[in-house]
Amino acid sequence: MKTTISQVPKYTDQQVRIGAWLDNKRSSGKIAFLQLRDGTGFIQGVVVKNDVTEEVFQLANNITQESSMYITGTITEDSRSPFGYEMHVSDIELIQEAVDYPITPKEHGTEFLMDHRHLWLRSKRQHAVMKVRNEIIRATYQFFNDNDYVKVDPPILTGSSAEGTTELFHTKYFDEDAYLSQSGQLYMEAAAMAFGKVFSFGPTFRAEKSKTRRHLIEFWMIEPEMAFVDHDESLEIQEQYVSFVVQSVLENCKLELQTLDRDISKLANVKAPFPRISYDDAIELVKEKGFDDIEWGEDFGAPHETAIAESYDKPVFITNYPTEIKAFYMKPDPERSDVVLCADLIAPEGYGEIVGGSQRIDDLELMKQRYEEHDLTGPAYEWYLELRQYGSVPHSGFGLGLERTVAWIAGVEHVRETIPFPRLLNRLYP
Ligand code: 4AD
Ligand code: MG
Repeated sequence: MKTTISQVPKYTDQQVRIGAWLDNKRSSGKIAFLQLRDGTGFIQGVVVKNDVTEEVFQLANNITQESSMYITGTITEDSRSPFGYEMHVSDIELIQEAVDYPITPKEHGTEFLMDHRHLWLRSKRQHAVMKVRNEIIRATYQFFNDNDYVKVDPPILTGSSAEGTTELFHTKYFDEDAYLSQSGQLYMEAAAMAFGKVFSFGPTFRAEKSKTRRHLIEFWMIEPEMAFVDHDESLEIQEQYVSFVVQSVLENCKLELQTLDRDISKLANVKAPFPRISYDDAIELVKEKGFDDIEWGEDFGAPHETAIAESYDKPVFITNYPTEIKAFYMKPDPERSDVVLCADLIAPEGYGEIVGGSQRIDDLELMKQRYEEHDLTGPAYEWYLELRQYGSVPHSGFGLGLERTVAWIAGVEHVRETIPFPRLLNRLYP
């Protein structure tokens, strides 16, 4: 029976055939232990000299790392392995012998591994990170589908900027100027007026000269947008969504979290509701924590966010930032116009901001005023004004950065390991 490693629990005490690669091996004169992987999982194959032909035992003894094969054997339960099963091998058919695989079990530097990302993805740890990423994607679709959202795909080539012009990737669009999308939000607002509750999930681009463990040049964002939903209601949706994602990973990625040595006790209580702290109070809090030179009106940097997060054991919303430091489309707090109805969600354990969201300006005159203040001119922005002209309603939305969320949940230090092929300030290869 031809199957995959993920399916072997169905075949206890039966013989199966699997296409696999050799991850690692140990052998003595009479027995060889092959660490096998097939993409769906990892399993140990045990080759006993007396149970196979001389030829197969020689092959098992000499097979090199990342050689490919079809391997046949009987599946048995094995309580010592984290996976719970192993294979008693009866036959090996070599497909290709891999000579001098560059990534060996010894330690390699990060730049070397990044240069070999196309191969590094095969390793157990990288495999686990990508499986966590995949579960977050799966849970995202489930959450929004179950809650009646429509997925809408905003364009990637745009004529306008949603988050300010300094970080835009410019390109020519025949005779016009175009930019790679830094957020689908403006289009998602149009979509919310057509479908009520919508979400997007796609790549976004920021030409940021930041070289931190939280910044990618190309990253994936989930952007829900909801008509007739105010800021407070949006926060409730955000905390339910993030809780659902974390609990789904805990439920469905047990082996991966174990491979990653993730302290899951820190994730178990990530359940709605999440605490909220106003920007005003957060400024006071970071001052108390020793950052005496920060002034009201300044944005928080990574060390400030970490200091705030340390006070909580769940993600925390920092709400109502100064109007000055936030995007043009955010709705002012009706009680004081110097702050806007917005929130950033800060992950625990120093992973920083994972969500940015706000209620949007729905008043046509105020939006026109913002256009002037921010110098937003030209046809690229005209259509967005019309959303405030024809049946404008209160509406809110947010954007969750996939890679930062993966980094936090998987417990990975740097976002470069949370996307298959990272685009970094000085990396476009492989
Ligand atoms: O806070 P941001 O810039 O918000 C927006 O783009 C809004 N238009 C979203 C919306 O309301 N629809 O980005 C949202 C999230 C951040 O919280 C962060 O998780 C992630 O996107 N992000 C990045 N992730 C990796 N690398 C970067 N350079 C990122 N910039 C933002
Ligand atoms: Mg932000």
